[in-house]
Order: sequence, then C-alpha cells, then structure tokens
Amino acid sequence: MRTAILELLKRNGGEYISGEELSRNLNVSRTAVWKHIRALKQAGYDIEAHSRLGYALRQNTDRLLPDEIRVQLTSTILGQEIHYFSEVDSTNTEAKKLAANGCPEGTIVVAEAQSTGRGRLSRGWFSPFGQGIWLSVVLRPPFGPMDAAKCTLMAAVGVNRAINAVTGIGCGIKWPNDILWNNRKVVGILTEMSAEMDVINYVVIGMGINVSIEEFPDEFAASAVSLSVAAGRSISRVKLLTTILAELENAYILVKKSGFAPVLAAWRQESITLGQQVKVQGFERSFTGLAVDIDADGALLVKTSQGVERVVAGDVSIRPAGSL
Ligand code: BTN
Repeated sequence: MRTAILELLKRNGGEYISGEELSRNLNVSRTAVWKHIRALKQAGYDIEAHSRLGYALRQNTDRLLPDEIRVQLTSTILGQEIHYFSEVDSTNTEAKKLAANGCPEGTIVVAEAQSTGRGRLSRGWFSPFGQGIWLSVVLRPPFGPMDAAKCTLMAAVGVNRAINAVTGIGCGIKWPNDILWNNRKVVGILTEMSAEMDVINYVVIGMGINVSIEEFPDEFAASAVSLSVAAGRSISRVKLLTTILAELENAYILVKKSGFAPVLAAWRQESITLGQQVKVQGFERSFTGLAVDIDADGALLVKTSQGVERVVAGDVSIRPAGSL
C-alpha cells in the first residue's frame, strides 16, 4: 500500500493529490492513507500535506530509501532486507550487530552519512551526507575462514563491474580491493568476519563509494576522487547501488558454483596492479618490486631482487613509471 501511494504521488509530478482521491484509487480509508503518508515521511520522503489540497511529493533527491531501492532491485539474495539510516556510526558495525543476531544472508545496511566510517588498517573513512554510498552486505558463505580474504577480491570484481557499467569511466582494481580511476580512489572495501575454526559465521563486506563529493579533507584530497567528477555528470546512487548488488550477487553465485578460480581470473583482467612496480608497506618491513600475479589464495606475488615475495596483507602502492 505504501509503495502504491508513493507511485501515485510520483506520477502526479509534485502536484497535490487529495486524500479522497488516493483513498478512492486504492480502496482504503482516508485514515489509512494518512497513516501511510506519515510512515513515508518518517522514512525520509519530503511530502507536503495541505488540509484542503491533499498531499504532494516534493522533488525526489536521489536518497537511498528502501522503497526507492526496491523499485530498481534485480538481485534476489542481496538487498531483500534493507536497513536504512540517515546517519549511523558505521554501516559495518551495524551490519555485524544484525549478523550476530541472525539476520538473513543478503541483508544490507545503507546510510546517507557515517559519523565514524572505518577504513582498512584502522584508518577513518570520510562519509558525508548524501554524497556517497556507504553500504554493508551480510553474507554467510558456505566455505572456511581460509577463503574469507578472497571474498574481498570477489567484492572488488562485482563493484568494479557495476561502476564501469553505470558510469562508463573505466576504473580498475588495485590489490587487494581499492577501485581507482586515474590512480585516485573512488571505492574502498572493508571486509570483516566472524568465524569458528572451520566455519564462517558471517562476512560483512563494507563498501564506501565516493559518488559526488566535491571536496575531500586534506588527508584524502590528492588520493581520492568522486565518480561524478570523473564522469563529468551526475550519477544516480540508487541505480549504482542496485547494480552493485546485482553484480556482487552474480560473482557470489559463481564462486559458490565453480569456486574462486573464475572470479580470480576476472580480478586479474580488471587489475591495475599487475605488471606494475609497487611498494609494499608490510607490518614489519617495506620493499619494492614488480607485481607479477595473484595466487590461488588471492595473495599478491611481487618479484624482487631476492626472489618472489607473497603478500597477504599490508599497503601496496603503485610506483610511477621509472621511479625504481
Ligand atoms: C578502505 O580503507 O579502503 C576501506 C573503506 C571502507 C569504507 C566503507 S563505508 C561503508 C562501510 N562502513 C564502514 O565503516 N566502512 C565501510
């Protein structure tokens, strides 16, 4: 009923439609109409109510409201349960709470803003209101904890495909899971999990997508960019979000059916790290070398003068040509 009311308001193009007309069209009482309108307003819709004229939906700002997402959703596992926040500390923290309390696989948490968005390696993540997609997806994969790191590569493949399909700007993946455009970051992915010795309880894949941020804080200004700036046009967040869910779901289904090999092959194709000189900042030491491949576990293989190093964690930066 709520969706039907919303549909009628949208079709009316911002003009007033009376409560009586809504109730007649949908065959419900005017009180019921009023209750649904109140719920829509609470959900974040800007609806004007006038005692004589009725209700009018004010300009729809591309909010990530569940009802907007559902209209464009094509995935059948991801996004069936949606938790939406105007502001939350971190969608990953929220998703972990929901997962620990038994929420179904595919549950998503999405927010317009995060007060303490978290990045990899204990960094913060800049998450201003309405200018990005701050999204976490709960998965309950049937494989063991050893395979969890590869979920991150799988997520990078899904998100990169979605971004390229929706924006056409030609992004690539920096190991393990940053999406870059012109060597500047448009997406960061933070994967967290809860597991026993041999079984994963849940994985939370958190994605931060810079959609229309014009000005970044100084610490990110040189290394980050927004999709709308890269594309030179505005990007619909709802369209991008639903495409990400669809592509991530495709990649996940493929992994469950055929193992990680096809997704790792796709990762190699979309990588901007392989074939480049890189600097690896590990926990204990740093070194440079040529990124030659990833192995079956998703570790980066870097050829140095000492031999081939296997990198499973740490920060990898691509060195400008001729700098070694
Ligand atoms: C990185 O350091 O590159 C990873 C950034 C991940 C940010 C996203 S935004 C949504 C989700 N919630 C968080 O607190 N972090 C992730």
